[in-house]
Amino acid sequence: MAKDALWWRQAAIYQIYPRSFYDSNGDGIGDLNGIIEKVPYLKSLNLDAVWLSPFYPSALADGGYDVDDYRDVDPKIGTLKDFDRMVKALHKADISLIIDIVPNHSSNQHKWFKEALASEPGSKARDRYIFRDGRGKNGELPPNDWPSHFVPSAWTRTNNPDGTPGQWYLHLFAPEQPDWNWDNREVEEDFLKTLRFWADRGVDGFRIDVAHALKKDLKRIYTAKKNNVDGFKIPQNGTDVLFDRNEVHEVYKTWRKLFNEYNPPKFAVAEAYVKAKRRMLYARPDELGQAFNFDLLGAYYGAKDFKRIITENLKLAKSEGSSSTWVFNNHDRVRHTTRFGLPKKVDLRTWLLADGKSHKVDMELGLQRARAATLMLLALPGCTYLYQGEELALPEVPDLPESELADPIWKRTSGTEKGRDGCRVSIPWSEATAHKHFKGLSAEIQESASDSMLNFYR
Ligand code: GLC
Ligand code: CA
Repeated sequence: MAKDALWWRQAAIYQIYPRSFYDSNGDGIGDLNGIIEKVPYLKSLNLDAVWLSPFYPSALADGGYDVDDYRDVDPKIGTLKDFDRMVKALHKADISLIIDIVPNHSSNQHKWFKEALASEPGSKARDRYIFRDGRGKNGELPPNDWPSHFVPSAWTRTNNPDGTPGQWYLHLFAPEQPDWNWDNREVEEDFLKTLRFWADRGVDGFRIDVAHALKKDLKRIYTAKKNNVDGFKIPQNGTDVLFDRNEVHEVYKTWRKLFNEYNPPKFAVAEAYVKAKRRMLYARPDELGQAFNFDLLGAYYGAKDFKRIITENLKLAKSEGSSSTWVFNNHDRVRHTTRFGLPKKVDLRTWLLADGKSHKVDMELGLQRARAATLMLLALPGCTYLYQGEELALPEVPDLPESELADPIWKRTSGTEKGRDGCRVSIPWSEATAHKHFKGLSAEIQESASDSMLNFYR
């Protein structure tokens, strides 16, 4: 594929959440062969690239963002051979492929985490992760009171090989997602190996999960004050103990050198939940090159806010030599047709918790607004990220039965926060198999309706 090296600066990139995209063999889970089968559909959307959310072997404690093995495909959804065929099929259709890299944490099923558990405190194996003795008389208290993103604590106690209670390990997300120690040389080298593994297989770029969290000030574990897990609320000078530390940029400078060994150079985009100015540092040309801008995702529908956000971000991107990115939807957020169909004052978390019954969605209004907003989005200079299903105008599904809630947020908050399953419901390819909230919105029906959202996106 002879693409311009800077193709990604002005691109439409479509996110696939593989497990709910297309299930080609009917075993209940979307798969890589399903993506291959849908290449003509992707092609019909005139996309520049697909971003594939994690497809690695995983127990799915966090929808695949808990990776057991960074250099393989989950047998539930395919094989490395299928992956190679998928790359070929996409490239043949002139669609680039970006894959998700999850460097902040592995899963607790990763062979190195198992090795760490079986090894002594202070061992080399434990140093790849962040193990510490607890406080209190018998180490029964966690090293500090940091919360995790999926609450409550960011620490979980382990058992020693002989069954007695042992050290604690750090996990900024679920306990099944132990954080890597990025001051460990082996960890650093293993990720370079992973990036090269996929780059050599023909992958065109990488989306870096929680890019701002890798480096921590481990010396302050016992002395740090309660830390804020919200990257927007931390100090803006790169000195927070956990997030957006200045040293994290050294990691991406090293990665950029590796990316530039390829022709064209590999592309990368940072997911960094920090304020716009700090976020742009990750997008510098000698680092990842691009960073997600989530400002529109967090805004309500309205010209005034849209204009402010767009103006600010165009200016910032220019100042760091990057291009802007725009996004209304992803696998972590309530879908935009629904957001725009609810009154501005509605708190989405509360609405989700009430199974969507606390406020009625004005779907007609939501659709009209989504259409207008998308038209604006796709006309802006820069790179646009689309999330599977938004081209079908899919609404959020707020009332999934408890048995179908897989997001760790639901269980970890003891049911006080619903989580993100409502935007991860399977794509309705046909009317017959469509979820009840998606009836009338299947790809099958929209294909032939000239005024459908699908044809609008095309
Ligand atoms: C990112 C992902 C999210 C995941 C989290 C932990 O924010 O988008 O889905 O839960 O990282 O990996
Ligand atoms: Ca399947």
